[in-house]
Amino acid sequence: MLIKGGTLLTVRGQEKGDLHIKGEIIEQVGTDLKLDQAEVIDATGKLIMPGGIDPHTHLDLPMFDTISSDDHYTGMKAAAFGGTTTVLDFVPLGSESLAESIDAWQAKAQPKAAIDYGLHMNVTRLDGNIRAEIPKLRDRGITTLKVFTAYNGRLRLQDGEIFEVLRLAAEHGMLTLLHAENGDVIEILTAEALADGHTQAEWHARTRPAWGAAEAVLRGIALAEQAHAPLYVVHVNTAGGLDQIRYGRERGVKVMGETCPQYLFFTEEHLSRSDGAKWICSPPMRTHMDNEALWAGLSDDSLQTIGTDHCPFFYDGTISIEYEGEQVAVPGKELGASDFTKIPNGLPGVGDRMPVLWTYGVGKGRLTPEQYVALMSTNPAKIFGLYPKKGDLLPGSDADIVIWDPERSLTYGLAYAHHRTDYNLYEGWELTGFPEKVFLRGQLIVDGDRWLGRPGMGRFLRRSPGAQIL
Ligand code: URP
Ligand code: ZN
Ligand code: ZN
Repeated sequence: MLIKGGTLLTVRGQEKGDLHIKGEIIEQVGTDLKLDQAEVIDATGKLIMPGGIDPHTHLDLPMFDTISSDDHYTGMKAAAFGGTTTVLDFVPLGSESLAESIDAWQAKAQPKAAIDYGLHMNVTRLDGNIRAEIPKLRDRGITTLKVFTAYNGRLRLQDGEIFEVLRLAAEHGMLTLLHAENGDVIEILTAEALADGHTQAEWHARTRPAWGAAEAVLRGIALAEQAHAPLYVVHVNTAGGLDQIRYGRERGVKVMGETCPQYLFFTEEHLSRSDGAKWICSPPMRTHMDNEALWAGLSDDSLQTIGTDHCPFFYDGTISIEYEGEQVAVPGKELGASDFTKIPNGLPGVGDRMPVLWTYGVGKGRLTPEQYVALMSTNPAKIFGLYPKKGDLLPGSDADIVIWDPERSLTYGLAYAHHRTDYNLYEGWELTGFPEKVFLRGQLIVDGDRWLGRPGMGRFLRRSPGAQIL
């Protein structure tokens, strides 16, 4: 197959060029490529970029009394419609071993996967068995561990345990991911709020103060430095957290940061709306000043990736929606109608990320097109050990390709997003620039509004230790 006449967009710049795809791989990159009997795809007037990599999803994740409403098929299909061809999904640790938790997750994920995927392992308990198992994860292609300083009694590790995980991970070429909030303060403020009868959604943000995130990010960085370990802070939501990342990086600590679209566009004021539960996620969105600071952190490379933390729930899970011809309803945000602590935490976003960031990042002059590709694809590929197989348009790379129509304008929302949920955070937003065709390892999976992918065609990506630190 030849993709001809388009403009190749990579972190190195933009240039007119053609791609020769042979099977699953990019065989040649050049100009005026000619091949007998090749299928030719005309990309005149279009941009051609590497498929997006979303480093942070929670598909089919049990939470409270429900489950995130996209499974590994529907969530990956939605990702593909938005130009993303790889996701990294989190494996929750159950009461069993790491290996058994991964087996259970793979049993759900593998038959459904519609795009390629890798896994991060949540380390939410530390004992002798878990310590012994961590190095063995490399043999399974899992090289990233997530730890939490919040969710006391459920997911949180103590600081000494986080230090141990960091050290163990570094010893084996693995990377530790940190969820940074102050669990103790959250517990106290939440109990007080409920005792005072404050049950509304806005109390979710009021009981998780921004200073808790700033402090916990710094704590994580300090622990990483003392453990001589790299650290990746997930879902950075505050200017204060970003400041700590800058502080660490300026002093040579190997710390990287991810933010998410919701922290760039929304504030905690959204939680005070009558439908505020739609915006409940942890950590919460903060202020306009935080939004602006995070944009600045992306443009000066203090933050290296934009993940979505895609973890969708229905706004009203008592009413079904039609998805692929079937009626589906999953209990959602209504579970917390009279108690904000029972609202499942998380937002849809995996399919929105690339179109929304193109218009509001590149289109508004906040990001260059090259920075956009770095944030959407190349940086996560490098940080998570997938480069150059993923994240670039090089001979030998997987032919994960997006043909992007920079002129297509539409009013975005549920009609274009393919998430299996009943709302979209960007409903009514005017977008210019949208994927036209999406290829997964050379196979056309999205053609305009047509879905050509299928469950099971996505492949599990075994990642190697010792990935790059950006
Ligand atoms: O609210 C969120 N983000 N849910 C997913 C879990 C997490 O901590 O990333
Ligand atoms: Zn988290
Ligand atoms: Zn998450």
